[in-house]
Amino acid sequence: VLRNIWLVISIFLLGVGLIGFWFFHREPKRDLSYLDAISEHSSDALALVLTANLEGYVAPCGCTSDPYGGIDRFAQVFLDLKAGLAGRAVLVDGGNMLFDSKTRNIADSCQDEAKIDLLLSTLKDLGLRFTMPGQFDFARGAGFAIDLYKKFGLQFPPDEELKIYPIDEHGLKISLLMIPAGYFLKRDIGLIKKSAEAAKAGGAQVVVVVSQMPSEKTKELMVPGTNIDIIFQAHTESMVPKSPIWASQAHPIWLEGGRQGQFFTYLLLQNVGSAKGAPLQLDSRAFAALEEKDLLVLRIQGLKQQLNDSSEDRRAFLNQRLQMAEVELESLLQVGSFTPLPGPSATFQAIPLSRRIVPNPKIKAQLDQYDASIPALVRKCEENVVCEKPDEGQATYVGVETCKTCHQAAYDVWKKAIVTVDAVNEEGAAIKRQVGHSRAWQTLVDDQKETDRSCVGCHSIGFMKKGGYCKAFEVDFRVNVQCESCHGPGSLHATTGDKRFITRRMDEQGCRECHVVPHISTYDSFNYEEKVQKILGPGHGEKLLQELQHKAR
Ligand code: HEC
Ligand code: HEC
Ligand code: HEC
Ligand code: HEC
Repeated sequence: VLRNIWLVISIFLLGVGLIGFWFFHREPKRDLSYLDAISEHSSDALALVLTANLEGYVAPCGCTSDPYGGIDRFAQVFLDLKAGLAGRAVLVDGGNMLFDSKTRNIADSCQDEAKIDLLLSTLKDLGLRFTMPGQFDFARGAGFAIDLYKKFGLQFPPDEELKIYPIDEHGLKISLLMIPAGYFLKRDIGLIKKSAEAAKAGGAQVVVVVSQMPSEKTKELMVPGTNIDIIFQAHTESMVPKSPIWASQAHPIWLEGGRQGQFFTYLLLQNVGSAKGAPLQLDSRAFAALEEKDLLVLRIQGLKQQLNDSSEDRRAFLNQRLQMAEVELESLLQVGSFTPLPGPSATFQAIPLSRRIVPNPKIKAQLDQYDASIPALVRKCEENVVCEKPDEGQATYVGVETCKTCHQAAYDVWKKAIVTVDAVNEEGAAIKRQVGHSRAWQTLVDDQKETDRSCVGCHSIGFMKKGGYCKAFEVDFRVNVQCESCHGPGSLHATTGDKRFITRRMDEQGCRECHVVPHISTYDSFNYEEKVQKILGPGHGEKLLQELQHKAR
């Protein structure tokens, strides 16, 4: 009998073990829905893949629970799409490809160069032929950008000139009018219309304007009867793509993508050869479906976050709304394909490059290699840099351990202000994560990003500030988001205890210097009054905490 009991217990434990193994090694849901839009397509369908404002990004920072982007995922979607269309995919870049700001620090150069090399070589391998200067591309001088374009064999207009590039592929004649950032300062908008007219007269079936001019300037082309079919407004402030605008059949179709490679944007041209002279119709069904899905994904993220932030009595209500949203999303995921419109049509698509999309293995390996090379690159470029000295009598950053000596209670609140949030891991599987100011550096260490100069600024104190530090390798005691991230450098206050030398009030704007898109999912996902309660407690802004709690009731 005893032997049998042991046998039953062993089998039971084995079963539990197997279920546990299955649970933790379940394949996360792979998202291939980006192929839905082409599952039914006309025989001449061609994808014009439009990138702009990549801003040197090869991967998202991973600050949000489901970050979008990554050149490895971009490559996979491009190749899948191209295969699905029997090779009929053309890649065009609209500029602001290299940098995300107008100036660069010399200490960033080594990392920048390796990153740009990975970005451009990937795009080149995918068949990129055209780009042009945007406002950020000359951050290291015009010569630097132009040498790069030449190195990778890209065609580009000079900064103040418009250029027309014919794309004659798979029996489709497209005219690409590239208009760089500097064009409107010196030249006439009317010339663009004339060029479009000439292109059409020369046999172009589709005329596409790609503009790095400010929107207000490009909008002057949004008039009827111009011979322009499509306007891709490459210069944009928006992180996310916008719904296409099409006022009437006689107007051009206005398209705007996002920034930093978070979305894969393309135009699917169909039946263009068949009905000669018929105007191009905008088909926005697929975009609308994706937009709806994306909004729901964001709403679900928001609700999950609210659940984390809210009080017990609101939870049941929020849970109910969350379940409803999840059911709705499940049904939207079944949307499937769209039969192409009968005449010539253009479908604009913007696919969020979420972690549920499988990255291309070859590019992923190169990205990993680049990541592994960051410490050596940064060390090399930081070597000969001299940091700016603080001014005479100016406060410097002293670190949380110094503040602790007089503010033990505030320190304890800071240390313990850690929340658990829902997120997805690199493979797209759901996980829980611990997030909080006092462990912000550990986050970078876990990601092996603690020497990445594009990360340390918000995850430590005083980076690139006088009285702080300017080399990632010299971070020392400045790790984590500390007291001085919010109250300012405290050396003068810490030696005197004088409150004139320290800032007490930290307003919403101060939080938003770090809590900013794309490091948060949307502007609204950071609700100041809810978030600030998480960092307050006994001995640290208790009065404000009670006020806010009272208000919330
Ligand atoms: C030597 C002890 C001492 C150290 C070290 C110290 N403080 Fe203080 N701090 C005080 C005293 C005392 C007050 C109260 C001053 C008053 O009410 O006049 C104060 C007040 C404050 C206030 C509130 C100011 C106001 O206007 O009400 C803030 C914020 C603050 N400290 C932040 C810090 C930070 C950040 C550090 C570390 C950089 C720090 N303190 C280090 C003694 C210290
Ligand atoms: C110097 C940049 C910086 C500033 C300023 C800043 N934060 Fe943060 N905050 C971060 C970082 C980085 C994290 C993520 C920490 C980690 O990696 O675990 C974070 C995380 C948080 C979290 C936990 C995650 C979440 O969203 O619930 C809260 C709450 C928070 N911050 C509130 C605030 C509030 C309120 C302010 C303004 C009073 C503020 N922060 C100012 C950088 C900053
Ligand atoms: C502009 C400021 C900023 C920069 C730059 C920044 N982060 Fe963050 N990061 C944040 C904020 C704010 C949060 C908290 C977001 C939240 O929870 O609301 C965060 C959260 C995170 C998290 C999730 C927290 C956790 O504990 O898992 C990771 C991972 C992360 N950041 C990694 C990075 C990496 C890697 C880089 C550089 C490539 C980077 N961050 C650059 C502001 C920044
Ligand atoms: C994310 C921003 C943030 C960080 C980090 C932070 N504080 Fe504060 N601190 C605040 C806010 C907001 C208040 C409330 C201000 C008010 O009452 O209007 C506050 C209030 C205070 C006060 C006033 C005392 C009181 O009870 O009102 C002191 C002292 C203080 N902080 C010290 C610190 C120290 C020491 C640290 C580090 C251990 C720290 N703070 C970290 C935002 C921050």
